[in-house]
Amino acid sequence: MSVETRISELTREGEAAIAAATTSAALEDVRVRFLGRRAELPNLLRGVAELPPEQRGAVGKAANQARRTLEAKLEERAGQLAAGELHARLEQDRIDVTLPADPLPAVGRLHLITQTRREIEDVFIGLGYNVAEGPEVENVYYNFDALNHDPTHPARAWTDTFYISQEVLLRTHTSPMQVRSMERQPPPIHIIVPGRVYRRDSDVTHTPQFHQIEGLAIDEGITLTDLKGTLLEFARAIFGPERVIRLRPHFFPFTEPSVEVDVSCFNCSGGVTASGERCGICKGTGWLEILGSGMVDPNVLLHVAGNGYDPEVVQGFAFGMGIERIAMLKHGVSDLRLFYDNDLRFLEQFP
Ligand code: FA5
Ligand code: MG
Repeated sequence: MSVETRISELTREGEAAIAAATTSAALEDVRVRFLGRRAELPNLLRGVAELPPEQRGAVGKAANQARRTLEAKLEERAGQLAAGELHARLEQDRIDVTLPADPLPAVGRLHLITQTRREIEDVFIGLGYNVAEGPEVENVYYNFDALNHDPTHPARAWTDTFYISQEVLLRTHTSPMQVRSMERQPPPIHIIVPGRVYRRDSDVTHTPQFHQIEGLAIDEGITLTDLKGTLLEFARAIFGPERVIRLRPHFFPFTEPSVEVDVSCFNCSGGVTASGERCGICKGTGWLEILGSGMVDPNVLLHVAGNGYDPEVVQGFAFGMGIERIAMLKHGVSDLRLFYDNDLRFLEQFP
């Protein structure tokens, strides 16, 4: 058999083997078998120099041609196999998002302030209130002016309040949302407003940042008895069904009349504990102060009279409570600052 015939035989065999390879690994074996260092075709090429001169040109050309053909076929087949294998791998790795989930158990727990806020929200949502939120960076107008604060009111002083500028401050209470909400929707309105507030305060019962929940109910024919009934319902839901409340006269610029509300102490009876000692939670008084409230002052409604809040037609009540205060009373927490230290020994007591 002539060398040229052998070369074309090897080319055909090689092409057939390449086409028959079904994996990249099998194709690699074919490459070694036909083009590897010990394979026949490269050997033929290397031996061209030893051939008689008249044969060298034709054999060298044929062998080179055969090598290039096999290399091209190998390249082409390698591309096909790689694409197929990638596709198969992707098919196999696919995650079925419709399978039932298997969630990890929660690693943390809600902070007591969050728990308490949600508990209070649930009570008022049950009474038909909506939850609204407002800006912590607030205009002097909404925080003081629209709430009927006299220009000389002490809370306006820079010593009590964090000012951003003459007209902008960190809200000192959630009450600015009263006028903001009434601007947004005509009466009737029943909302609560949880959120952060800021004051220049710092001691065992005061921190510079704390949380309040505002309440506002405006409609025709709302009276102080509605306020009392609502807050009694709230106090019983949070502190227990046996609780009673009392209203004490107070002053706020934006309510008239204004009252502070006390709930009967849940830890004692009339200031004396079951074991006959003076109660430490209510300090022997039998009552715990929980919030400030009152009937919304007509001067406040006048700021939104154009949106249907004519004080001759509608009236209502507002209240504001400290969330930390409620949590402290309910859980016997002695120092407000514990809420913000983030000491796990404290936090883990409230699963
Ligand atoms: C007010 O902030 C009024 N806006 C409440 C109000 C709303 C009255 C609507 C009438 C109608 P006061 O300043 O008393 O009121 O604060 C309300 C509650 O916030 C307090 O009872 C107390 O629980 C809490 N509080 C006040 N200052 C701090 C403080 N520095 N740290 C933690 N809690 C505080
Ligand atoms: Mg007060």
